[in-house]
Amino acid sequence: MQNINNDIKEILYSQEQLKDKIKEIGKNINRDYEGKDLVLVGILKGSVMFMSDLLREITIPCQMDFMAVSSYGNSTETSGVVRILKDLDFQIKGKHIIIVEDIIDTGITLKYLMKYLKSRNPKSLEIACLLNKPERREIEIDVKYSGYNVPDYFIVGYGIDFAEKYRNLPYIGILKEELYK
Ligand code: IMP
Ligand code: MG
Repeated sequence: MQNINNDIKEILYSQEQLKDKIKEIGKNINRDYEGKDLVLVGILKGSVMFMSDLLREITIPCQMDFMAVSSYGNSTETSGVVRILKDLDFQIKGKHIIIVEDIIDTGITLKYLMKYLKSRNPKSLEIACLLNKPERREIEIDVKYSGYNVPDYFIVGYGIDFAEKYRNLPYIGILKEELYK
């Protein structure tokens, strides 16, 4: 039987480590957004596991919404062009927004999304990302809640894919190089 676990070179963060980290982020959000009209905007599809685990740590009232964008196609390098595949369902004017993203690489996707969402006049706009690759940054991005800094490897698992595969791994791992080089 095929097993996607065999395609992983190294596990970076286990389920338990992710759970603890997300608990900490949730606590900070509960503290910072107490009494505020909060909407979490998950970026499909990479953020689904992070989003659903983070929501379970948030105990203040909040709404959730999703957007889908595409910048990669099926390659491992960003194309630099961001397209909106699914827009928000709700109005965000006057609300406090946190964008929930899986991983920040060059920063191109988030720069575009920040500009796009800002134009809809939310009361505030911040970012929560699970993983961050600072070495790869091309555009400065201000991240309020960040899980882990990761080295410049191709990462999969816990929602994050390579060519739509590996999202169902429950941990964060490095994909074996021979599978994408
Ligand atoms: P950016 O626009 O270059 O910051 O790219 C951000 C998006 O690229 C993320 O939301 C991911 O979907 C994808 N991405 C960046 N690095 C990786 C990776 O190591 N593995 C899988 N997807 C990645
Ligand atoms: Mg993404």
